[in-house]
Amino acid sequence: MKNIILLFAFSLVFIHCKTATKKEKVVGLIANKAMVVSAREEASKIGLLILEKGGNAFDAMAATELALAVAYPYAGNIGGGGFMVYRKNDGEIGALDYREKAPLAASKDMYLNDDGNVIPNKSTLGSMAVGIPGTIAGVFEAHRKFGTLPIQDILKPVIELAKRGVIVTKKQEARIKEYQPKFKEANQSLILFDSIWKENDIIKYPALAETLERISKNGRDEFYKGETAKRLVKFMQANGGIMTLDDLAKYEAKWRTPITFKYDDLKIISMSPPSSGGICLAQIMNGIEPYDLDTYGHNSVKTIQIITEAERRAYADRSFFLGDPDFVKIPLETLISKEYTKGRMDDFSFDKATKSADVAHGTIEMVESDETTHYSIVDQFGNAVSVTTTLNGAYGSKLYCSDLGFFLNNEMDDFSSKPGVPNMFGLIGAKANEIAPEKRMLSSMTPTIVEKNGNLWMVIGTPGGSTIITSVLQTILNVHEFKMGMQEAINQPRFHHQWLPDVIMMEPHQFDQKITDELKNKGYHINEKDAPVIGKVEGILVLPNGKLEGGADPRGDDKAVGY
Ligand code: DON
Repeated sequence: MKNIILLFAFSLVFIHCKTATKKEKVVGLIANKAMVVSAREEASKIGLLILEKGGNAFDAMAATELALAVAYPYAGNIGGGGFMVYRKNDGEIGALDYREKAPLAASKDMYLNDDGNVIPNKSTLGSMAVGIPGTIAGVFEAHRKFGTLPIQDILKPVIELAKRGVIVTKKQEARIKEYQPKFKEANQSLILFDSIWKENDIIKYPALAETLERISKNGRDEFYKGETAKRLVKFMQANGGIMTLDDLAKYEAKWRTPITFKYDDLKIISMSPPSSGGICLAQIMNGIEPYDLDTYGHNSVKTIQIITEAERRAYADRSFFLGDPDFVKIPLETLISKEYTKGRMDDFSFDKATKSADVAHGTIEMVESDETTHYSIVDQFGNAVSVTTTLNGAYGSKLYCSDLGFFLNNEMDDFSSKPGVPNMFGLIGAKANEIAPEKRMLSSMTPTIVEKNGNLWMVIGTPGGSTIITSVLQTILNVHEFKMGMQEAINQPRFHHQWLPDVIMMEPHQFDQKITDELKNKGYHINEKDAPVIGKVEGILVLPNGKLEGGADPRGDDKAVGY
């Protein structure tokens, strides 16, 4: 029964997505110099416009991020946070963390009732679910360090878009309708999205345009210390939230050292804690590297087994060891070392599934006791940025500040509310990811850049909660091991295992029944019902001739544009 509840919770997260596409040989958009791939054409085009004006990838990052906040309110945001991994044309790499933080008044047991049980919905719906937003700090910090165009020039087309409005797509029509009951539950009065919106209608965002205009004029501090901050805190407190002006004033985006590791002749550069993305990706890829996936074949029984078993072990470690590095000590070097993973895979056999119940986190001697969206950009100078940004769930906490024109995140659910109790992605956490004031909640976001022979090769990432890591993994493998192009690799059916629940989630009607039967015979539990799509990957691949191939996931309204 417990498993059924877990699976149900897990499936709810994916249920809003549409059916995945069939296997097909396709080539994505090819561009000579520069490319932006994002969840909405309007945002990709604004990013590219900035590049065409002579801006670099970091200018385009600011433009695309904020254009997504307008065109894709489902996940694009100024009320959430994200991570950026970059690689400059001279090979310099880095990462920016603009993840939300727990409010100062947050506490370890804030989502528990007097009996010590998790209060349903408290960490996901409404004001108590909201972490202190990081997006504006992230955009301004990236721009401060590397941008070249004035921020006002970057924000201008975004503000114009908000005023002009954005066309509703068929998928968006369905999404808004689906979440309207939740909007009513979370908000005291009707919001913009309570109206009936049909495909091809235009939604205008005047309140958001005004907020962005003030930010454009007054800079980053407008959001964290200015009039916007005051109006936001007033709104949050009127809705029973705990966010204060102090919380906003103390927020800072942080530069981090990305996780790097080798896989064959590739160098993978991915997000470091407080995201688990880079570490988990490294552990999974270290686990599968000794096996010849290309000879076993794409999505064959053996390939699925190896990937599943490596994922199972990596996610078990994730739940125990990982959290905000400013609060917990993470045995990072050990976790991503080839030797450690080799030991973890020792008990794997092709004959029989390992049971998750038999897998705990690895034993590591500590030195001391003790719904999201992604965009990828390559500019005409050869700089690359890979950014994943999120409100967490679809439309975040569903709490919408009509005065300022944006949704607030429900990122607090990414903390472990109680050890052993799964969050909305079915992820189990432990002490390392418990709630504390000003702590960043553990993420799975995996913005990634891959080098081949020392050169830029791929820029990739995806939404999908806990499935982010495994979708990024499979897309890299599809290109590297199975010799697919970028778009073709993204179109392939995907599967996912995360230790608990002990089940392989597979996109429905995509996998041969012979394969799933054989896996079942070996003791794997398969669920092909509850994840209509897994991930929505946006990638750019540098082709051998130096041109760029874009991959925009057909599972959404995503779009690659380039020149
Ligand atoms: O940071 C994380 O891992 C989650 N908040 C991401 C949420 C997400 O990808 C939602 N998309 N389906």
